[in-house]
Amino acid sequence: MATFLKVVALAVTLNFVNSATYKEGDEVLLYVNKVGPYFNPHETYHYYQLPVCRPKQIEHKSLTLGEVLDGDRMAKSLYEIKFRKEEDKKVLCKVHYSENDLSLLRNAIEDLYYFEFVIDEIPIRGFIGHLEEGGFLPHSHKIYLWAHLHFNIEYNGDHIIYANVTTKEISPVSIDSVPTPFEVAFTYSVKWYQSNMKFEDRGKRLRDNSFFPKTLEIHWLSIINSMVLVFLLIGFVVIIMTRVLKSDFARYNLDDEENDDLDQEDNGWKIIHTDVFRFPPGKNVFCAILGVGSQFLALATGILLMAMLGMFNVHRHGAINSAGIVLYAFTSCISGYVAANMFKKMGGDNWVWNINLTSSLFALPFFLVWAIVNSVAWGYGTTQALPWQTVILLMALWVFVGYPLTVIGGIFGKNWAVSFDAPCRTKNIQREIPSVPWYRSAFAHCVVGGFLPFSAISVELYYIFATLWGREQYTLFGILFIVYGILLSVTACISVALTYFQLSAEDYRWWWRSIFSAGSTGMFVFLYALFYYFKRSNMSGALQSIEFFGYTFLTCYVFFLMLGTVSFFASLKFVRYIYVNLKMD
Ligand SMILES: *[C@@H]1O[C@H](CO)[C@@H](O)[C@H](O)[C@H]1NC(C)=O
Repeated sequence: MATFLKVVALAVTLNFVNSATYKEGDEVLLYVNKVGPYFNPHETYHYYQLPVCRPKQIEHKSLTLGEVLDGDRMAKSLYEIKFRKEEDKKVLCKVHYSENDLSLLRNAIEDLYYFEFVIDEIPIRGFIGHLEEGGFLPHSHKIYLWAHLHFNIEYNGDHIIYANVTTKEISPVSIDSVPTPFEVAFTYSVKWYQSNMKFEDRGKRLRDNSFFPKTLEIHWLSIINSMVLVFLLIGFVVIIMTRVLKSDFARYNLDDEENDDLDQEDNGWKIIHTDVFRFPPGKNVFCAILGVGSQFLALATGILLMAMLGMFNVHRHGAINSAGIVLYAFTSCISGYVAANMFKKMGGDNWVWNINLTSSLFALPFFLVWAIVNSVAWGYGTTQALPWQTVILLMALWVFVGYPLTVIGGIFGKNWAVSFDAPCRTKNIQREIPSVPWYRSAFAHCVVGGFLPFSAISVELYYIFATLWGREQYTLFGILFIVYGILLSVTACISVALTYFQLSAEDYRWWWRSIFSAGSTGMFVFLYALFYYFKRSNMSGALQSIEFFGYTFLTCYVFFLMLGTVSFFASLKFVRYIYVNLKMD
């Protein structure tokens, strides 16, 4: 339990700065971490899976949950680096390669494998080898292995500020058609540079200097452009709705004498007041969606706020992932509360079943997707597969924190529920629903209701994808927070407008419709993901594809839950408002 708490504490450790200090001649530990194809950010293997110099006993470094989720598996290396002591072509070890090892190496170099080491928390990266293209027909290339690594380290006082590795100092070893066993002597050199940068600022130096291609160029103009459009859109919807409603109220609330001859033509949303508050079928799932959706709204808001306040170490994606997982468990009480509360209001009685549904509505799909992805990753032997300790830790987090909190939230929600208090009485007999033209069908509503919120975030989606699926660091959390606010406002506006149209067409089944019309944004995000995968990224291979589509599917599902919830509650407020202001006979 103690270790469990320690890991949880570490997982939410906020941007902790490890200020290691060194004296001249002190040993500086270099950890080997991972290797993988340059273009597949989520396919990484342990460095020692390659035939390289390795110690007799591999000593692993203990990692935070965030690092484990990020695919890090650090282990001690053979490199001996002393603070401010330069080395020149020191021998690391000699490796005798069999034909098998050589073909392993050749494949890795052809897939543009890079390696990642870590010195004093600073990741340093370089390529394993080098391809030289030659001859068009027949196409051939020469394969070289970098056997010499040159470490450049900058220091200031007793701190390390920056480090990188270069390979070009000594020409590489050709490993095409060589006789086996083939001997390669690995060597390294170390050079120290004096720097004026303060230790506190070293994060900036790391951010500016990227080994991976920069795909992220923030186009401020297009972001501002999309924001202006969205504000205009929201403005129009609000103005039109208030005008239309005003004239509706004026018409419906006329004195009865004047209205007598109009009664015949009395149509629109007024006449369905005896049906509009009829609870929808499938209350159980309905309330579960609202519960989990509310939980994710709280979660997303919390994480964005924390990120904005600079509470995450942005050099590692895993920091946000692990905070997300831990926060998910702790916000489970919200889903239980909202679901049970709504369920009770809507007259549901089997609340135990409702709570179980709520707690598995996201956890179950997540577990299934994760199980598939992790099995494939295990099969490939990549470090993206979570070790069993981490799996047990995450399960324990759900079983001992997430699930109980859902139940506790549910009990409070059920006991504190007040009556639904609909402004109009619901008749037992349902009105017949007139048929509607195609542009008022559920499908059309879903397209409009999904496309508009999607277009509000489409520009930023590119940055978000580049961050999640590339190796970019998204640092503009302020913008992201504004976009998030805009997304929710657009969703609420569109939802109100669509519900109004639906009610005017005398269709009172707005409950489920409001969830789906805005929830369909998730579908659009998924379509965008397809575009991103095939057109904007260089990812390839079964492992990377399964991971990409598995987790993208989950992301879109979360979008559906979140926006569906916002949309329903906005519509509910609106429907209440218009029927409360209606003078009933
Ligand atoms: C590596 O670091 C050294 C020392 O700071 C610097 O001069 C050099 O330009 C860096 N090389 C690369 C490829 O970033």
